[in-house]
Amino acid sequence: MGPGVDPDPGMIRIVRKPTDTPGDDSTTQVCAALDARGAPWTDLDLDRVDPFDCNLEGALIWACGLRQDGHQFEALQALALSNRVVNAPDAIATCASKVATTALLLRAGLPSPGTGFLRTREQAEAFIARHGGRAVFKPVYGFDGNGIRLVDSADDLDEPPFYLQEYVPNSEDYRVFVIGDRAVGAIRRTSPHLTHNIHQGGRGEAVEVTPEMDRLAVAAARAVGADYAGVDLLPVPGGFTVLEVNGTPNWHCMTAPIPVLLADYLVRCEEKVTPRR
Ligand SMILES: Nc1ncnc2c1ncn2[C@@H]1O[C@H](COP(=O)(O)OP(=O)(O)O)[C@@H](O)[C@H]1O
Ligand SMILES: [Mg+2]
Repeated sequence: MGPGVDPDPGMIRIVRKPTDTPGDDSTTQVCAALDARGAPWTDLDLDRVDPFDCNLEGALIWACGLRQDGHQFEALQALALSNRVVNAPDAIATCASKVATTALLLRAGLPSPGTGFLRTREQAEAFIARHGGRAVFKPVYGFDGNGIRLVDSADDLDEPPFYLQEYVPNSEDYRVFVIGDRAVGAIRRTSPHLTHNIHQGGRGEAVEVTPEMDRLAVAAARAVGADYAGVDLLPVPGGFTVLEVNGTPNWHCMTAPIPVLLADYLVRCEEKVTPRR
């Protein structure tokens, strides 16, 4: 077999989301949609892959999720050199870091709350003072709203570094699901507390995607290099500000048929990597 040749052309390779559970199984939903349209797929168990002893080339690999265990991400990155991986490992890594995400959002000229990534308590105190005596602290590699809190003094902070953000007053936020160059669905999330994440007890309800949501969410996904993404927006007077981009998003509470749309997208990507004979 020559270089760049998929040993099983047309077969979509799927890395399952490690956090899937029987009642909340994103991977299986997309696999069912692939089955429904007759698209062949097979599991790619990264735990059994040695990227230096693996003849997979020129294939489409979909990573629904990754375990941060020091092997999965690196193995996928190695495979990405000779396969098309959705989302690209670099995009997944960017989205995992709030610092990298904010940097790319700002470079793309997208609205995002004032943010600092700071090393000292003095810097943190000055940032808080500049933003009305309060700021939102976020763990750099946090997710699902974990560890996020409002602080009004550097004394409330543990160990540096400190990712601090201007508090944007709100009673709701929006999660927009982007696939390719289109926002295909959105939900409004509400809760009585700071973080409206579904995992923090937020309530999600499907809403129409407005042109402004579409424009910002698509631009944000593109800024981080994601094929598909969940983009969090906060409403501000006159529009929205972009909080973050999720590179392995779920689609809780969405009424848009996300698994079908994702399956369609994966098939289209696969057709581009495997020239039809
Ligand atoms: N700057 C902010 N001002 C007000 N609320 C915020 C701010 N940043 C985050 N939040 C709230 O916290 C939630 C989680 O923040 P987010 O940046 O999306 O991190 P995570 O990756 O943990 O979801 C948001 O959905 C929003 O409800
Ligand atoms: Mg979020």
